[in-house]
Amino acid sequence: MKDSFHRTEGDINLSDSRKAWYAVISDSSTQHYLDADARYFLHQSMSTPCLDVLESCDGIYIKDLAGKRYMDFHGNNVHQVGYRNPYVIDEVKKQMDILPFSPRRYTNKPAVELAEKLAGLFPGDLNRVLFAPGGTSAIGMALKLARVVTGRHKVISLWDSFHGASLDAIAAGGEQVFRKGMGPLMPGVERIPPPTTYRGIFGDDGNDIKYAEYLEYIIEKEGEIGAFIAETVRNTDVQLPSKVYWKKVREICTRHEVLLILDEIPIAFGRTGKMFAFEHYDIEPDIVCVGKGLGAGIMPIAAMIARDAYNIAADVSLGHYTHEKSPLGCVAAKAMLEYIEEHNILQKVNEDAVFMETTLNNMKEKFSLIGDVRGIGLLWGIELVKDRGTKAKAIEESEFVLYECLRNGLSFKISQGNVLQLSPPLIITREQLQHALQIVENAIAKASAIVK
Ligand SMILES: Cc1ncc(COP(=O)(O)O)c(C=O)c1O
Repeated sequence: MKDSFHRTEGDINLSDSRKAWYAVISDSSTQHYLDADARYFLHQSMSTPCLDVLESCDGIYIKDLAGKRYMDFHGNNVHQVGYRNPYVIDEVKKQMDILPFSPRRYTNKPAVELAEKLAGLFPGDLNRVLFAPGGTSAIGMALKLARVVTGRHKVISLWDSFHGASLDAIAAGGEQVFRKGMGPLMPGVERIPPPTTYRGIFGDDGNDIKYAEYLEYIIEKEGEIGAFIAETVRNTDVQLPSKVYWKKVREICTRHEVLLILDEIPIAFGRTGKMFAFEHYDIEPDIVCVGKGLGAGIMPIAAMIARDAYNIAADVSLGHYTHEKSPLGCVAAKAMLEYIEEHNILQKVNEDAVFMETTLNNMKEKFSLIGDVRGIGLLWGIELVKDRGTKAKAIEESEFVLYECLRNGLSFKISQGNVLQLSPPLIITREQLQHALQIVENAIAKASAIVK
């Protein structure tokens, strides 16, 4: 296996394990489309070659051309209410026959209704909304708005953070691999170490209060800082800062009049057991970006939600997107939110979380390959290590587990090379969850036997 690969956001699709995977999905039709995909798309990191060719999806499943079904525990974080959720599909179909597109300069009922609905879900005066066609674009709007509100252009972010792949988002983000070789980027970004030490939200804060103090240090030393941007809970390798950390960050931002921008693009709408992850921390951000699951796995739509007092940029184009008020996106989003509320999804997720915690901790007892399990709601990470003392990453073993699970009908993503990230649709039944975790356990057992 080539070790020049950067293992950050996702699993590596050029590794030897990936090459071996293609023997499993070798039918001629699949091969044809994989080859054609590789022929006609511009290749880019982590996209080409693809894992498989999909034909359909339903509930927690994606299905390939040969009829193989995978439980999707990744879903790019769009599948909170499951694939092709019938209620959402119905609402979108109805809208399709009425007003599928709304030109900018006009508004429409679904857009206004969604804006009002979102404003009602956020606390305090977080009730001003702008929509965008994707999360990255919502981040771009938030960065612009922070400049307008504070008159300061500098931003602090976390090392290794991801906020999208556009030039402004990679400039603000912390993952070096996205910036590498890209030339000059947006100036004025300072990065501080991320609070990766897991002690649990309500537990001992460990050392992460120190991480919050870096923020104040840079604000004071650097000057001209307008905003601090971070994921409330890091999605990819599942890092949960303590409540002490976020309370301290909030206090520092308030004291220095630095806007707190929370990126909840992958984790809002029930993933953590609350509608928004910041609710776990009793803090109120100044701007929040959401996306992905907002479109219910059907329409691309994201949103920035900001304080009422920030409605001062009437002469600035913050977004100016063609799909600024997409009626289809807005109908899908409103239906997704209604579905979550009407089916008590948050309560279900919290019950599932207890089951996940117990099952994964039992797994950890059995296999020394598991260095750590951590999570909240239906967002869990299993960190595989060669040695619990040194925490050396078990990279080959993680890839082995991934492909073994794929073989057995479970799809997920590896983060940082050794964190199996499990984020199933929130509508998953307990039986399906049990089945999926059994697949994971069997694969880890096999990987452990091989390592010995
Ligand atoms: C934390 C975070 N922010 C921003 C984005 C960008 O969202 P999008 O791909 O919809 O532009 C992502 C996407 O993976 C993300 O995980």
